[in-house]
Amino acid sequence: MIIVGGTATNGIDERLSKLLGARLVKVEHKVFPDGESYVRIPSSLSGEDVVLVQTTQPPQDKNLMELFLMVEALRDIGASRITAVVPYIAYSRQDRRFLDGEAISIKTVLNLLRSLGVSTLVTVEPHHQESLAYFEGEVKVVDPIPSLAREVKKFVKNPFVLGPDRGAMGRAERLARELGCRFSFLEKERDRHTGEIRVRSSNLGSLKGYDVVLVDDIISTGGTMVEASKIAQSLGAESVSAVGVHLLLVNGAYARLKEAGIREIMGVNTVVPSERVSLVDISDQIAVRL
Ligand code: R5P
Repeated sequence: MIIVGGTATNGIDERLSKLLGARLVKVEHKVFPDGESYVRIPSSLSGEDVVLVQTTQPPQDKNLMELFLMVEALRDIGASRITAVVPYIAYSRQDRRFLDGEAISIKTVLNLLRSLGVSTLVTVEPHHQESLAYFEGEVKVVDPIPSLAREVKKFVKNPFVLGPDRGAMGRAERLARELGCRFSFLEKERDRHTGEIRVRSSNLGSLKGYDVVLVDDIISTGGTMVEASKIAQSLGAESVSAVGVHLLLVNGAYARLKEAGIREIMGVNTVVPSERVSLVDISDQIAVRL
């Protein structure tokens, strides 16, 4: 097995190479003055079983395009089998048609990866696991919750896990199980035209004395976590922290979360935001799936 480190890896390629004792080949890369990407695999990998590492954190379009270019190049130079480790898969939230005529973006991304020649896709905590069925090959999903829970235990005394929407229920349940505490979830509605969200609680009861740990798959603008935090605080929470697996943190999200009184912000190194947040390295969990 040969690890090929793509153009956006957050160091996961190097750690996988060490953990697995596998040779690491780094992709050569440049961007032309007009913004187009160039990639080159600087090694003969003909007949090799290749593990390509490339996350699709912002800038998503560039990182995705480079992923597609690298897969095709690997095929062209004769790699016998390509496993794509894509720790964060961009475009995963549009996984169904909410309004007529909408593109199902995750379907396009996964179809492209498959048709370009990826045999196995490895990813971390997807938005909806079911949507990975659009990839007509082997899929391996890494669960980051046990690793995150070990870190959460360091800063909470009396945890209560809260998912900010129904989609986060399973995630909240898994984290609560690891922490040995109770969990619940809120209801979120999104206006499909304006994108505006409304989060409300249904019979949650008092959270007095609890260190509430909000958990979601993605923190993007921070709007969802801020609304959930307001509810937790209004119910008497002792503290509120936010665990988002993939911390995109766009448009001033970090400042917004801090202003809302959120104590700790934690995620996984599938995405590395510019702010200083606690990130758990997921490489060892990926390594055991390869
Ligand atoms: C959507 O349902 C996701 O699970 C997240 O809740 C969402 O992406 C968070 O976005 P934001 O931080 O912008 O509210």
